[in-house]
Amino acid sequence: MKVEVKIPATIANLGCGFDCFGLAIPIYNIISVEETILPGSGVQINIISEENQINTENIPNDKSSIIYKAIELFYNYMGQVPEELKIDIKTNIPIARGLGSSSSVIVGTLVAANELLGHPADLAVLLSIASEIEGHPDNITPALVGGLTISSQEEDGSVVYRKLEWPKEWKLIVCIPDYELSTGISRSVLPEKVDMKSAVFNLKRSAMFVESVYTKDEELMKLSLKDMLHQPFRTKLVPEFEQLNQNLKHIKGVLGCVLAGAGPSILIITNGQNQNEIKEIIENTYKNLNINAKILITPIENQGTVTLKGRK
Ligand code: HSE
Repeated sequence: MKVEVKIPATIANLGCGFDCFGLAIPIYNIISVEETILPGSGVQINIISEENQINTENIPNDKSSIIYKAIELFYNYMGQVPEELKIDIKTNIPIARGLGSSSSVIVGTLVAANELLGHPADLAVLLSIASEIEGHPDNITPALVGGLTISSQEEDGSVVYRKLEWPKEWKLIVCIPDYELSTGISRSVLPEKVDMKSAVFNLKRSAMFVESVYTKDEELMKLSLKDMLHQPFRTKLVPEFEQLNQNLKHIKGVLGCVLAGAGPSILIITNGQNQNEIKEIIENTYKNLNINAKILITPIENQGTVTLKGRK
């Protein structure tokens, strides 16, 4: 039997909501898991890049890969051991760009394995195992349920989350540079402790963020998309971030410019107006810094992970 699932890319943090806020965007990985009949073949993992030619050479496909870890943990959780399985990952989500590629493969592998085993796990269990593997739930949750989410993994491992309704008019511009930055490196520059002023700064802004989404309050959203917990430390790894912020500061329609997850992609949130001028400014900023980048104007993705081929 073969099952197949489709999982969106995600953008975490959104400025003030470090390790908590995340949203899904319509770029997808497709993962299939198939029981094979060749005894002793073990778990085979194939990573295939679709149209946009992602370099898959350096992605582990042996026992050290997170895909293997996800499948093993899931089967063990169900009191089983994975045996002959063929896992194909068709990848469209750029790797090490802050677009949730690792969350996507973790979520996709778990959802597919769950389908194959006849749904022993519910959403809460999937969220909890996936967040455990990833280390934080901010990409995992929107990858699974779509839309804009706030989530927290609690002491007991459970994930508390809520999906908020993103204002239809507000659009996303995602800038994906052609260089990679691993989450590990991007997390390594963060301080172990933060001061009270920074904590209170972000606390206020995350409250504003939620209210601004509910009431479609553009001025409040502009204020809320600021951060003192991670972006100031990461800008040295993504030098174009400050320049983009500078160039977009007073441009009509721009609500804010934040790092996508751990970077190096950058997310610009707009009220839907003036898109072409904004895109041109972004393109020129990258060009002047001699950085190649793909600029996508996109809506939010609301479905999350979808099963394309399930059990009969
Ligand atoms: N919240 C995470 C971070 C997202 O910023 O490090 C990347 O996995």
